[in-house]
Amino acid sequence: MDGPRPSRTALRVALRRAAHQLYDDPPLVLNDPFALPILGHHAEEIVRTPGRNPENKPRPYSIGLRAFLVARSRYAEDLLADAVAQGTTQYVLLGAGLDTFAHRNPFPSLRVFEVDHPHTQQWKRELLLENRLAHAAHLTYVPVDFERDSLRDRLIASGFDPHAPTFFAWLGVVPYLTPEAFRATVKFLSTQPSGSGIVLDYSQPRAVLEPEEQLAHDSLASRVRQAGEAFRQFFTPTEMAAEFPSFCRLQDIGSPEINARYFADRTDNLRTIGDAGRFFSAWIP
Ligand SMILES: C[S@@+](CC[C@H](N)C(=O)[O-])C[C@H]1O[C@@H](n2cnc3c(N)ncnc32)[C@H](O)[C@@H]1O
Repeated sequence: MDGPRPSRTALRVALRRAAHQLYDDPPLVLNDPFALPILGHHAEEIVRTPGRNPENKPRPYSIGLRAFLVARSRYAEDLLADAVAQGTTQYVLLGAGLDTFAHRNPFPSLRVFEVDHPHTQQWKRELLLENRLAHAAHLTYVPVDFERDSLRDRLIASGFDPHAPTFFAWLGVVPYLTPEAFRATVKFLSTQPSGSGIVLDYSQPRAVLEPEEQLAHDSLASRVRQAGEAFRQFFTPTEMAAEFPSFCRLQDIGSPEINARYFADRTDNLRTIGDAGRFFSAWIP
């Protein structure tokens, strides 16, 4: 992230989750009563001018991106629910952005740690205060810059228990990191206790995409670069799996599996398209 300011892509993602609540047909893939309230005045962008907002233009790649983003959070929360049923007691959101899970947490004994870049986290906390949403039980904020700080040290200083099975969500962050920061974090994840898990999403390299999707990729890459958050790394599924050699139960899914799981039988045209984005999860044996 360039400069001393909060993540703009975090706002763009949150606007799409909010647009899902407003404009997509039921049943919602991600039912999030806080998606709109957390935005405060930013929500005007989608409420008042839906036709002018990229989230709502009926372009296939725009709808596909919204579908991908809401399914990404839903997938993470589905895996989290499985993990909690197996005894997980901590949930760490790495690069939490404006994620609202902590405000909807249905698990009374689950502790939630929101890790994020200090500038983004400060902005989120101000937004929550402004919009009277500051309280969330069992939530701890952990400011961390993955490029500079020790995630482990910061978590432990915040009360994280390194001996408790933990589920980590790293959504919409990996493409923005340097390989060094990515690998340092994966190294920390690999030291977690048995039963711990990770979910993340990543993008495939431009060269493996169909020509039409390459154009969509270029448009998105240009928008995030202008936001000061250029894409820095891409993976093929084989390359991603190779980053997690000590993990088990690797799952890597793309549009066909995501659509079958979350978008089958819909009455609207909400669904993911293309091969660029994928969800990946893995567990500590
Ligand atoms: C696209 S947003 C995704 C936010 C959230 N996970 C979601 O799905 O809504 C990217 C997030 O990565 C965080 N991020 C990017 N680079 C970071 C870094 N070097 N250290 C910590 N967080 C970073 C940003 O602050 C932002 O919250």
